Amino acid sequence: MTPDLLDDGARRVEAHAQRGEAGKTESGGRAAGFSRLATPGEVDTTHGRILYLEDVSVSFDGFKAINKLSLDIAPGELRCIIGPNGAGKTTMMDIITGKTRPDEGTVFFGSTIDLLRYKEAEIAQMGIGRKFQKPTVFEQLTVFENLELALKTNKGVKSSMFFRLDSGQSDRLAEILHTIHLADSVTRLAGNLSHGQKQWLEIGMLLMQDPKLLLLDEPVAGMTDEETARTAELFLTLKGRHSLMVVEHDMSFIKTISEIVTVLCDGSVLAQGTLDQVQSDERVIEVYLGR
Ligand SMILES: Nc1ncnc2c1ncn2[C@@H]1O[C@H](COP(=O)(O)OP(=O)(O)OP(=O)(O)O)[C@@H](O)[C@H]1O
Ligand SMILES: [Mg+2]
Repeated sequence: MTPDLLDDGARRVEAHAQRGEAGKTESGGRAAGFSRLATPGEVDTTHGRILYLEDVSVSFDGFKAINKLSLDIAPGELRCIIGPNGAGKTTMMDIITGKTRPDEGTVFFGSTIDLLRYKEAEIAQMGIGRKFQKPTVFEQLTVFENLELALKTNKGVKSSMFFRLDSGQSDRLAEILHTIHLADSVTRLAGNLSHGQKQWLEIGMLLMQDPKLLLLDEPVAGMTDEETARTAELFLTLKGRHSLMVVEHDMSFIKTISEIVTVLCDGSVLAQGTLDQVQSDERVIEVYLGR
């Protein structure tokens, strides 16, 4: 984390203490980090942030898709991102996951891991899982086989051939089957599942890797109302244990799951707050909700 970010965090902690809110999830800055040692391979969230973007910009052929974007997410938080088409929501996820390199800016996972130094596969292995809009399950395999495969993906061919779930992994698979509402469909072919069930299966495949941060791009698009409601339940059970960043246009879904909502427009944050707050913001109504 840059010295500026640390100082900024320290100022926020001081302001918090003055308001009698010490100990809340704002960044603790340099003072909070003093004398703490980061454990290698672990995400250091002692500053109260699992993801930190500052002044990130990227242009495509001269068009600024992301423009001085700054935002951060607390550990265990479920953050909703809304905004008009072309606002840069998917591009932001591309940057976090290493698919797109920004022209400038800072992107940190916890306070010690500079994500811009890593490749896409390395970022996934560090514990950032991403769900694209279209389900990408293996249609010819069963639900069980898909989940089992999710554990093998990072292994070489030889170890994959002899791969067997250990008891901890079996327990985890059973727990995830239950979480994603597919415990009764273990032996069904993924290709025979409904659209919503395929989306849940793919989320289950991500969960098999126990990601710390999950990025979900329009997860309920194309789902029935009932599937959407069950997905809301699912996300509410995931928060706390995982941090989630959810991009969605479905406002009734957002209403069910949201705490803090960030509105993106023209590649940067237009507004942020509770859904009620952003929905009554004139600028948000003009560019998005009032369409
Ligand atoms: N690889 C790329 N090359 C050129 N332009 C791109 C590229 N990726 C994104 N863009 C442009 O950047 C802008 C932001 O696109 P992005 O897909 O991030 O928007 P979005 O907020 O996800 O929109 P939607 O709600 O429609 O999914 C768009 O104008 C898009 O055309
Ligand atoms: Mg998008």
